[in-house]
Amino acid sequence: MSDKLIIFDTTLRDGEQSPGASMTRDEKLRIARQLERLRVDVIEAGFAASSNGDFEAVKTIADHIKDSTVCSLARANDRDISRAAEALAGAQRARIHTFIATSPLHMEKKLRMSPDQVFEQAKLAVRFARNVCGDIEFSPEDGYRSEPDFLCRVLEAVIAEGATTINIPDTVGYAIPELYGEFIRNLRERVPNSDKAIWSVHCHNDLGMAVANSLAGVKIGGARQIECTINGLGERAGNCALEEVVMAIRTRRDHFGLDIGIDTTQIMPASRMVSQTTGFVVQPNKAVVGANAFAHASGIHQDGVLKARDTYEIMRAEDVGWAANKIVLGKLSGRNAFKQRLQELGIELESEGEINAAFTRFKDLADRKSEIFDEDIIALVSDESVTAVKEHFRLISLAQRSETGERPQASVTLAIGEAEHAVHSEGRPKPLRLAKQRLPSPRGRLAR
Ligand code: KIV
Ligand code: ZN
Repeated sequence: MSDKLIIFDTTLRDGEQSPGASMTRDEKLRIARQLERLRVDVIEAGFAASSNGDFEAVKTIADHIKDSTVCSLARANDRDISRAAEALAGAQRARIHTFIATSPLHMEKKLRMSPDQVFEQAKLAVRFARNVCGDIEFSPEDGYRSEPDFLCRVLEAVIAEGATTINIPDTVGYAIPELYGEFIRNLRERVPNSDKAIWSVHCHNDLGMAVANSLAGVKIGGARQIECTINGLGERAGNCALEEVVMAIRTRRDHFGLDIGIDTTQIMPASRMVSQTTGFVVQPNKAVVGANAFAHASGIHQDGVLKARDTYEIMRAEDVGWAANKIVLGKLSGRNAFKQRLQELGIELESEGEINAAFTRFKDLADRKSEIFDEDIIALVSDESVTAVKEHFRLISLAQRSETGERPQASVTLAIGEAEHAVHSEGRPKPLRLAKQRLPSPRGRLAR
């Protein structure tokens, strides 16, 4: 079995399905370029048949992206598949991802089709798709809640028709790691031609286990493609988070033994870009990309990290695109951490006595203020230098406007030295509340 794990990013398709996260064509292209820098293997750019706007977005991405395969979603019918093929015509490498639901619940209540009808439609769709594109992915939607016997029958048929990737979605995030891993292993063992396709996992995060389930699908099930999104963006509680699953595979290579082509130093830029574009703020304690992911506030931890980084860190902040680990100074910080920050700020105190005096003032301040910023330290050691900093950067004006239904706007003018810099920016209009249950969109809130 191959040791290469394919990273299939669906931020621009499944991620975009998150309420309030829809993106324009240009925003999608910008993110697609960042995904290419991140070196994801496949970019699912959208669902070409769903709207003219999404068709244009898939087409534009297909025309510009050179290194990653560009994919479009398509329902299992000729019209959707033709539209996807048309949008992907300019791609260096194209994939059509076609799907139909196979769980009893979805077939009966949503599709109102019998299992035999679904079987036929899946087969015909893959046959049609294979005539227009050499790289075909098939997903049985709600696959994890499908009857294994029926699923095996469908999967054997679509592989025989030429599907090259078989993706098993846990559409509603119902799976448990061991069970999902065993589910996939069982399918691979039972489908006679399973070795003719690459198996893929696609997990939603409704129970907070999308990453764990995906990893189990790989480790126990033998899947060799993971579908994921930046920051775990996606419908409801989101999809498997790319940054988490990639860093788990990379950090625990001893356990997984798999290669991935991702340039992990591009993770932070990708996370920031998706957050800024959608307005979905990343929680501070989010693994890998949260503001606190590499921050240490306890004195004991700070001291340990300063002596040997790996006492409290299993990954290097630089490896995922952070500048470095962050020692957050506060009342628990020790003298060592304080001294190190002085050095980083280029502040040289003459004697140990001066350092001790500054440290006492620092502790005093830390009792009153939970986080001590660099500016506070500069102020502690020299009133003159802080005055100089204040004079160098002066806020001339700040105007903001944010009302429901209107685009939030902000204008700021700063003097930096002698020069004045003004900038104006607009966010997304906050959607009007349409129904009682509907949550306000996070768009328009300040992203990091
Ligand atoms: O979650 C899901 O089932 C999907 C499919 C369309 C692959 O996103
Ligand atoms: Zn999905």
